[in-house]
Amino acid sequence: MSAAPGSALSTAKPERVVRRAVRMGSHLKGQATVAVTLTAIATISKLLIPLAIRAGVDDGIEKADTTVIARVSLLGLGLLVIQYIAQRVAYFAVARLGEEYLANFRGQIFSSLMKLDMPFYGRSKAGVLVARMTSDIESMTEFVNEGAVMALSNALTAFGVAVFLVAVDWRLALPILGVIGILIVISAVFQRWVSRSYAQVRERIGGVLALLQEGITGVRVVQAFTQESGQARAFRRINERYFEANMGAARAISKYFPMVSFLRSLAVGIVLALGGRRVIDGTLSFGTLVAFLLYLNWFFMPIINLANVYNLGQSAVAALHKLFAVVDTPVEVAEAPDARDIMTPVEGRLELASVSFGYEPGDLILEDLDLVIPPGQRLAVVGETGAGKSTVAKLLMRFYDPVKGEVRLDGQDLKRLTHASRASAVALIPQDDFLFNATLRENIRFGRPSADDAAIWAVCETMGIDGWLRSLPEGLNTEVRERGSRFSSGERQLVALARAFLVDPDVIVLDEATSNLDPQTELAVEQALRRLLSGRTSVVIAHRLRSAERADRVIMIDAGAIIADGTHDELLRTSARYAELVAVWERGLSSGSPAVEQ
Ligand SMILES: Nc1ncnc2c1ncn2[C@@H]1O[C@H](COP(=O)(O)OP(=O)(O)OP(=O)(O)O)[C@@H](O)[C@H]1O
Ligand SMILES: [Mg+2]
Repeated sequence: MSAAPGSALSTAKPERVVRRAVRMGSHLKGQATVAVTLTAIATISKLLIPLAIRAGVDDGIEKADTTVIARVSLLGLGLLVIQYIAQRVAYFAVARLGEEYLANFRGQIFSSLMKLDMPFYGRSKAGVLVARMTSDIESMTEFVNEGAVMALSNALTAFGVAVFLVAVDWRLALPILGVIGILIVISAVFQRWVSRSYAQVRERIGGVLALLQEGITGVRVVQAFTQESGQARAFRRINERYFEANMGAARAISKYFPMVSFLRSLAVGIVLALGGRRVIDGTLSFGTLVAFLLYLNWFFMPIINLANVYNLGQSAVAALHKLFAVVDTPVEVAEAPDARDIMTPVEGRLELASVSFGYEPGDLILEDLDLVIPPGQRLAVVGETGAGKSTVAKLLMRFYDPVKGEVRLDGQDLKRLTHASRASAVALIPQDDFLFNATLRENIRFGRPSADDAAIWAVCETMGIDGWLRSLPEGLNTEVRERGSRFSSGERQLVALARAFLVDPDVIVLDEATSNLDPQTELAVEQALRRLLSGRTSVVIAHRLRSAERADRVIMIDAGAIIADGTHDELLRTSARYAELVAVWERGLSSGSPAVEQ
């Protein structure tokens, strides 16, 4: 599992984490006050009922006075009704409060995730991030929904019962308080025990989710290499560890609850034995004994619940640590505070000025790279697999910042430009472009959600792919399905091109997919590309001969350095390496890694 991002924060004091979590719900203060007040009213009316019953027994039943019984019954009924109404409203108020808080919290975490940069995603496992959103938020949900509601009424009940017991008869209360003391100690020990198990459970669910997600997204590869049972074995191992963590918690619970039952019966026994004798002695009224037994009933559950709430609270704090760590992850590739919009009209002049870059510190992929791409030029970048071509594309899009040097657009350092203006000027079509599980329409207009169908069709016609679109029975309404699984890779590229075209960028950076296309689709892609690129500065990471031939200029990258620069014809003459690459292409082989069809 990857280290928690921003792990410095995980040492933050729990109080600070809690305070911060409370602040996030400060807009719900009014609702919280209502909920607390109603819960207090419900609890107090409940606690008064045994006193009414005592009066009924002592002054009504014992003295055979039916008016007292009637009055007490009415009083009891009144208290019950108050309790019922207050509790009903309180439950709803608290549930709503909790849900609103959590919905807001989930939204904030997701927004933070969407803003985090590529260096972060390079470090993190998607499954672990999903675990943040599911199991960590789940443990907060549990606390907010079960814990917060219970905590208040339980604390009030336990405290109220203790006060009532001592006030009603302190001598009978003492042994009970002794038993409760034992219960508290046992509960504390148990909670520490069980919370350790739960921490393990939560940590291991991350591993389970990570493997699950990878298994599903990579299922084609798994099946292509018939590794189903191998994957299943790997899953079984991790699943077993998860099972064991859960069993640890179950073992603790199975020891605790029978013990609680035992203590509870013991307390009832003590009250009956001691109280019964005193009733016979005449030093205790029968009604008081009844009230005591009723109170006893309410003493144990709140304490068990409070111990549980404490446990839930600890899990929630642990989850908050991790969630805040995500929120607080510094965005390295951030917009500068003094960032400005790019000057329009954008000319489209790109520049790498002695750029050095590496994904890992101390491991440079590009070193002192200099490159100037004049406006309107169509540049092809070629090179062996792993040479650093896609890395250049990512730097031009500012997915990463160079370690040294500057990447410039129209002479301005990308770091000084606002994200929005840069993104509207430069479009990147990545090597493995992503289609969302939505309709074609949604996918094409992803970068310009306001575009109407007419605009989409216009773009598709210009690109010459309207025929293909019309041939689909559902046209723009065609569901793309998970990652575009229903389309061929060529068709996916067409969609990606249309998506970029619709944004109408000034500069296009196209990282060609390495997979080979059938000649017909290749022709369609080629035509779409020609129209998309005409009149714009473009950088095409070329994996096909035709892309290199069509370019105004070709550069060849090897081990992060430019080893040849000129037109296709020039390079054919001057660079043996380039001639070699072209020969490979002509034999119909892809230069890229054997791309696995996603
Ligand atoms: N996110 C990453 N984290 C760490 N290393 C990376 C990352 N992406 C790429 N690399 C490494 O950087 C080097 C250059 O990769 P790059 O993707 O730029 O190659 P490429 O020229 O585009 O290759 P291809 O033709 O196969 O697409 C490779 O050695 C690769 O292993
Ligand atoms: Mg690449």
